[in-house]
Amino acid sequence: TAAAQILNVMDFEPLAKATLPPAHFAYLATGADDDQTVRLNHEAFSHYQIRSRRLIDVSHADLSTQVFGQPWTCPIYLSAVGSMRAFHPDGELAVARAAGAKSALMMLSTVATTSIEDAIAARGTPVWQQLYTTDDWSITQAIVRRAERAGSSAIVLTVDNLTGRNNETLERAKRVDTRDCAQCHVSDFAGYTRRKPMLAGLDLSHATELSPLNMSWDFFARLRGVVSGKLIIKGIVTAEDAALAVRHGADGIVVSNHGGRDEETLRPSIDCLPEVVAAVKRRVPVFVDGGIRRGTDVFKALALGATGVGIGRPYVWGLAAFGQSGVEAVIDLLTRELRQIMRQAGTPTIAAITPEHVIHG
Ligand code: FNR
Repeated sequence: TAAAQILNVMDFEPLAKATLPPAHFAYLATGADDDQTVRLNHEAFSHYQIRSRRLIDVSHADLSTQVFGQPWTCPIYLSAVGSMRAFHPDGELAVARAAGAKSALMMLSTVATTSIEDAIAARGTPVWQQLYTTDDWSITQAIVRRAERAGSSAIVLTVDNLTGRNNETLERAKRVDTRDCAQCHVSDFAGYTRRKPMLAGLDLSHATELSPLNMSWDFFARLRGVVSGKLIIKGIVTAEDAALAVRHGADGIVVSNHGGRDEETLRPSIDCLPEVVAAVKRRVPVFVDGGIRRGTDVFKALALGATGVGIGRPYVWGLAAFGQSGVEAVIDLLTRELRQIMRQAGTPTIAAITPEHVIHG
């Protein structure tokens, strides 16, 4: 069977591709321009090598950690991906159930095809609410209020996804697979937002885009004033912006280039992590996502100073191929690989993984 062929999370990708309509798969796979940042996000991990220590008792490898004072079973979390019903009929519900079964944190997209109330009910515990918004302040307030009322413990503002990005792999696929999809890759703003439960019911008639081009640090400061829980900023790739984020009251920073989907920088997110960690000086936790495909990638990110490590496409490949059990299998594989490298490297706990365990070669 297909499941028997799977040795690692990358093995889910061809199964997802075989299952999905071409344009849906392209929406998942696409980067910007030539997709080189997508590839480099993963390839960059091969430039970091692990310095393993020997003769350390690793019979009890403990993957648990703490984030904002809360216990996490494992530092791996499921990052926000929009429109998951385009990949499986159960969409975000299947992902939330898998996250619940594996005690993994889930970050729910603003453009999810399931409401935060339903996602929290399916996961059993709070999810983090990712935030896209318009330049209409009442919309921002409404989304934040609803998420917090539903029990979201953190709002994650994504700041890297500006209107007008050039996703050529998706555009090419849409010419072959011309079926309109109102869920994931529609270009009609009103039709798209109407189908998103977190936006339904809001008056978006004055808005033409999410992530408006005029968003600035003033917006972030204002948002800080209305978010009562944790406020995390996602999409930071420089020390300068990390310092500004801390100064503006961010509770956490996600180093991310949106899986290479927004702009072709050719700068892998793992290479952006060290300067952000240095600028933040442990004042707030730093998370990273982009190109994480192996337990060793997670290990390297932790060694370079990440508190938590996000995955995007891998769990969606699992979702597309097998639904909830595919998402669970992806979490299991990465967890197993992380445990194995922790043992091999002589680091029985997450706290034991330090910068000395990795070298850039
Ligand atoms: C995303 N990502 C994303 N991020 C976000 O903040 N809000 C969103 O709605 C989405 N939607 C989305 C859709 C799809 C199809 C993908 C692949 C990604 C970005 C995501 O949270 C994460 O930053 C990257 O996916 C991480 O890179 P990898 O693991 O996909 O390489």
